[in-house]
Order: sequence, then C-alpha cells, then structure tokens
Amino acid sequence: PEVPNRSTAVLNFDSIPGSLLDAVAVPAGYSAQVLVPWGTPLNNKASAWDNTGNNSAEDQANAMGMHHDGMHFFPLNDAADDGLLCINHEYIDSNALHPHGPSKDSGTNLRTSVEEIRKEINAHGVSVVRVKLNGNQWAIVDNDPLNRRFTAATVMDMAGPLAYTSYLETRFSPDGSQTRGTLNNCGNGYTPWGTYLTCEENWPGYFVNKGTKTEEQNRIGVSGSATRYGWDDLAGDADERLDEFTRFNVTPTAASAAADYRNEANGFGYIVEIDPYSQNARAVKRTALGRFRHEGCAFGKLEEGKPIVFYSGHDSKFEYIYKFVSDAVWDPADANPSNRRVAGDKYMDHGTLYVAKFSEDGAGSWLPLTMNSPTTGGGVLGDTFDSLAAILLNTAGAADLVGATPMDRPEWASIDPFTGTVYMTLTNNSSRTEANVANPRLNNYFGHIIRWDEGSDMTSFSWDIFLFGSPASADADTNLSGLTDLNMFASPDGLAFDERGILWVQTDNGAADVTSYTNDQMLAIVPSAMVDSQGQQQAVTGANQSQLKRFFVGPNGCEVTGFAISPDYKSVFINIQHPDNWPYSDNATTETPSGQTVRPRAATVVIRRNDGGEIGI
Ligand code: FEO
Ligand code: CA
Ligand code: CA
Ligand code: CA
Repeated sequence: PEVPNRSTAVLNFDSIPGSLLDAVAVPAGYSAQVLVPWGTPLNNKASAWDNTGNNSAEDQANAMGMHHDGMHFFPLNDAADDGLLCINHEYIDSNALHPHGPSKDSGTNLRTSVEEIRKEINAHGVSVVRVKLNGNQWAIVDNDPLNRRFTAATVMDMAGPLAYTSYLETRFSPDGSQTRGTLNNCGNGYTPWGTYLTCEENWPGYFVNKGTKTEEQNRIGVSGSATRYGWDDLAGDADERLDEFTRFNVTPTAASAAADYRNEANGFGYIVEIDPYSQNARAVKRTALGRFRHEGCAFGKLEEGKPIVFYSGHDSKFEYIYKFVSDAVWDPADANPSNRRVAGDKYMDHGTLYVAKFSEDGAGSWLPLTMNSPTTGGGVLGDTFDSLAAILLNTAGAADLVGATPMDRPEWASIDPFTGTVYMTLTNNSSRTEANVANPRLNNYFGHIIRWDEGSDMTSFSWDIFLFGSPASADADTNLSGLTDLNMFASPDGLAFDERGILWVQTDNGAADVTSYTNDQMLAIVPSAMVDSQGQQQAVTGANQSQLKRFFVGPNGCEVTGFAISPDYKSVFINIQHPDNWPYSDNATTETPSGQTVRPRAATVVIRRNDGGEIGI
C-alpha cells in the first residue's frame, strides 16, 4: 500500500469564541472533567486534600504536586481506558500551598518553617498516576503500585558525558554519579522505548552563589543574591543536618568541591528520563542532550537503521534550538525492550549535540558542539573548553561561540507523523530590537511557530514560519497569518501532534489585545492537509486561516499546557496551570460563582465527546 504523506483528518467542530470566565470552555457536544488536581492523594500515606492548606510535607510527597505542565499517557496492557499519566509540576503558588491562601500567590515568600520548605520541595517534580475510564468519567486508581512521586529531593542518577566527572562531585555524591531532585519541570517528551522525559527549565533561579560566580553560572543566570523560594536561607537553621536546604546555596564553603555544594546546580538543567512502568527504577538525567533551560524534548520521525534525533528548545529570550543525534541506530525491537534503562543508555548517552543556525532563503545548518567544532572567531571549541563534559555543562556558552541563531524563546517541539516536519513554538520576545530571518518581528509580543525539514545529511535543514500569533485587530504587518476573533492567540507554548496529524497549539500569557478577548487556550489545525496544487505545504495566511480552530479556553489567570490523548483518540488530557479561582467542582466547565473564592488548584482536564466519538474530527 502507498504510504500516506498527508493526513485525511478534517476538523469537525465549530471554532469557539473567546472566554473570560472562572471555568473552561469546549465546543458544543463536548464535556470536560477535572482529574487529579494538586493535592490528590496517590496512596494512603497521604491524607485527603485539605481546603485549609494544612496538608503536611509528607502528605505532599504522596499526593499530586502543584502547577501541572507537560504530560504523557502510557497505556497499560495496550488499553485505551487504563494507563499511567506522567505529569510535570513546574513550580508553586506559596499562597495556595500554605494556609495563608486561598487566593493566588501575591508573590510574597510565605513559608516560615522547615516543614513548609519540605512541602514546597515535595510539590515540585513529577507525578506518575494510574487512571482508568469508568463509563464516561476518568478516575485515579488509588494506591496503585505504580503511582509514584519524583520531587525536588528524590535521588536520581546522572548519565552521559558529565556523569562521574569533577563537575558533579558534591558531598552528597563524591563520585559525581547522583543528584537529589528535579526542578522546574516544564515541557516534556517521551521515548520510542516507553519512557517519559521531563525537562528542567527555569532551574537556575533555585540556586545562589554569593561569592564569585563561574562564567557558566553567569551565562545561565544563577543568582548572586537570592533564590526563588529562599529554600537555602531559612533564618536560624544553618545547621549542616539541613543540607537538604543549604545545598541550594552553591557558594564554595569548604576546601574542595567534594566537601561542599558548589557543584550542586551542575546536577540540574537536563532532560530527565523516568520509566513509569517500573515501580523502583531511578530517574536518570541524560547529560548528553545538553544543559540549559530545557523546555521540552521531542524525537524526530523514526527510521530503522538511522540515528534517533531529539529536539529541545532553550526557553529564554535570544536563546537557541538544539538537536541531539544518537550514535546508535534505531532498532524497532527496542520499542519493547526487556530493560528500558539499557535502551535509554544506548540511545541517549552517546551522540552529538547540535545547535541551529537559520539562514536566508529558508536554508539552515546544524552546528555541532564538539571539541573540534569551528567557532566564529576562527578557532575551535577545544580552545575554550577542555572536554566534551565542559562543553555540555555550559551548552549555551558553547553555542554562542559557534554562531547559533538567537530565537524568540524556543518552547515545545512536535513532529508531524505524516511528513516528519518538525514544528517548534517561539513564544514571544518583547525585547527584540533587531530582527533576524527566523524571528522577523520586532518587539515580538505574540510569538510564532517555525518548522523545518531535515536535509539528507545531519547538518542541513530547510525551514519556514508556519503561523504567527496576533490579535485580530492588529494591522497586516503584525497579523501576518490573518487571524480573526475565532482563532486569534498569542504566546504559543505547548505543541503536540496526535497520530492522526492534528496539531494542537496551547498558549501561555497572551499579550494585552488578546487577553482582553480570551483566556489562554488550545487551538487545532491539520498542517499536512494544507498543500498547494504542487503538493507544497502551506503556511497559515489570510486565505486559509479558518483551518485554525479554537477548541478549548481555560479559566481566568491560567496557562493551558501539557497534552496527552488516549490511543483510541476519545479522551484528550490537558493541564490547567496557575488558575486564579478554579476549579469549583469536578465539572471543569462549571463557573465559580461570582463573589466566591476557591483555593486554586492546577489540574488535568479530560475532554470527551458526549457521543463517545473521536476528539476533533
Ligand atoms: Fe515553563 Fe517555557 O514555559
Ligand atoms: Ca511552557
Ligand atoms: Ca511559557
Ligand atoms: Ca508555566
């Protein structure tokens, strides 16, 4: 049979108008349910979630974390109605977490005790939770042996070129083989061998060096004055038994790195692999994929006998897009490996990291980050760095030297299952005063989605811009995709293709002229169906903008992020992060009554069709 190269999916719902409610909005014929909100116990070591904010740190270590973000559904026994959700917990609202609430974080540092710091640490990380469909409603499987938490304190293994180097030596791990915890888990990925990837994004803010910062700490933005939540600095408790907290202060204090925590931050900034199907497997930080503010991680179209490619964006203004190419070539037998840890070691510990350079006329090149890679100054990276480990530790600093293209905040990537084209969100960059070919708008408040096809070798690609965010009211120089009230958006962030070729686009903090019309949202489009008479893929323009449809709008104050779909395409899971005053009930579309204040809870929302059919078509 002929291999199809374009999707035949046709979106069969009416684009919904914007919404500004303490409730979610879905198209006619759909329903939305709240699932596993922050604080939901995973097992009976945790007490039920307490609306007063008085749950303990121990409760929090055995319950859903806060601020749900990236997510994936791993079926059990190939079922569409029974599986494991892996869910990231990016950060916290102190106000809602502690009894001070209920209203959303005012930005004040509200914790006052060791117990409360432990609760904050335990509210970060990743949850693995078994969920099952009963009738038309999903529910958590309480006490399932695979239900599990990874927190900002969980012991994890280091793997790849940085493992066992002096860069990772600490008093906790004198041989540089382990670290404690994962931080600021934003976007996600998954692997062809059935594991979850969680991505450490804004981790530098959790560390402070009050002495002389290293060049690498300056480049990535470790603070010289204070950490985000003050975990390092609980007044009166400098006791070394509390190194669970003082480790976040990376100022050198002892004679050697192995005797203090100067290297503690070096254990963060990675793609972290989690095996959801193995109850006791440790999480592994894959250092070969580079160290920066990883937003997400997506693998390219798989081909037997070819390397696996992973794409990851560095989400900060003027940062870069990276890809990792494995040394090992894909063996389809590894889709069901007898040992997932061994598969991860095989494909993620050895390979080459590249950074993207976008050129005129839709051409691009991947610049390798290795010891003998040429720099724009006429030398090689080996002139500046003494090992591959040193390059990877300061990935962004190395990328500066080879001439990568500074982008408008790279967020998620996703790969069209029909064409293999890679799509990536560039969420916004209000500081851009100088355009480049791939980031053409100055003061880019609204963001865009770029895409590329790999060339025949590993080092070239061709690219174009697929879609520009904009208010409908903006002039044609800004509203380059011709968006209307029915599909205007800003700040694209979460991005996911499903296997039917539908691309789902989620938003985070739309700029003013969009937020006055609608809360953050999720839209859908079928890119591979948009071809011209020559079979060339089309970008979104005024002539075809109606292909982009708004499917979902979140409650006030939230960001819409994280995407998973059941294997039968009948349940879509998305996450609501940092809502203002929601959820009011288990029905996600129920509005919080005016005048009432609820303690806000990040949550997964499951969307189903009332007639039980496939979502979207
Ligand atoms: Fe946590 Fe880049 O979004
Ligand atoms: Ca994000
Ligand atoms: Ca974002
Ligand atoms: Ca966020």
